[in-house]
Amino acid sequence: MPIFLQKCLALFTLFTLALSETIFGNGTFGTDLPYGYSGATGPNVWHQMSPAWQACATSKQQSPINIRAKTTVSVLGSRFLYPQTALFEVFYDAYALRVQLHPLGNQEFTAVLGGRRYKLVQFHFQLPGEHTLEEGYFPVEIHFVHESLDVPGKLAVVGIFGDFLKGSEAPDPVFSTLKVQLDILLKDKTARLPARVDFKNIIKNIETSTIRYYNGSLPFPPCTEGVLWYVSETPLPLGNEEFQSLKKVTKFNSRHIQNDIGQPNLLALACGECREDPLV
Ligand SMILES: *[C@@H]1O[C@H](CO)[C@@H](O)[C@H](O)[C@H]1NC(C)=O
Ligand SMILES: *[C@@H]1O[C@H](CO)[C@@H](O)[C@H](O)[C@H]1NC(C)=O
Repeated sequence: MPIFLQKCLALFTLFTLALSETIFGNGTFGTDLPYGYSGATGPNVWHQMSPAWQACATSKQQSPINIRAKTTVSVLGSRFLYPQTALFEVFYDAYALRVQLHPLGNQEFTAVLGGRRYKLVQFHFQLPGEHTLEEGYFPVEIHFVHESLDVPGKLAVVGIFGDFLKGSEAPDPVFSTLKVQLDILLKDKTARLPARVDFKNIIKNIETSTIRYYNGSLPFPPCTEGVLWYVSETPLPLGNEEFQSLKKVTKFNSRHIQNDIGQPNLLALACGECREDPLV
């Protein structure tokens, strides 16, 4: 095989692996983060870090966005056919600065979204919430990553915000029961810990809240288009202690708000006048 073909193949394999690692989040890239959320590895330069990450700066359907009634569709009939409680493995995914949870055991986690069926792959926390809702922002957003049961590899992500609890509200169990694991992860980032997750309120949230749909992208490299987003308008109550623990482990891991779907990519817009040497 010619050497350039071998190189192409090696690169392709690397990117395919990187894509499945980003979605499944089971990779161990160690401390050498391939991308970050600030500075010289942040979202403004993701497209310069790999030829396979061009969509981050060219695509016109990038996530996250400011969710508005005008630019998204309200969908009915969404359901999480999840068990009320289930055992998950929780760990820190250094690759994406995320606390992730993968289901343990043989239980099925099916979701019905837009009339189609999906299975849960993992869920994780973004701080602050990546989407905004009519310009309002939230301290946390949980992303429930689902893969289509009909079209392998086709992703639908459900976003549910966490907002500071009010009055006599108690923190949602999805936050409070993870406090112990988060405190361990803070000391040992390589720990993989079991956690019993209580989905009772989450199941109810998905059935009763207004869910806003749009066709966006992965909100991190390679920024692949065609990820279907279902964002709940109703946040889950979040306690300050739970927030502090999440914040210490995850740190800042949110991409900035992208242009409305169909509008020019903001980096393409910003760079319309870019020059190698601004003085020439
Ligand atoms: C990560 O997990 C997914 C799903 O279990 C699997 O398909 C994939 O091969 C795994 N990737 C690695 C690098 O282990
Ligand atoms: C979502 O966007 C992708 C990429 O542009 C497109 O191929 C796909 O048909 C769209 N899906 C839906 C359901 O609109």
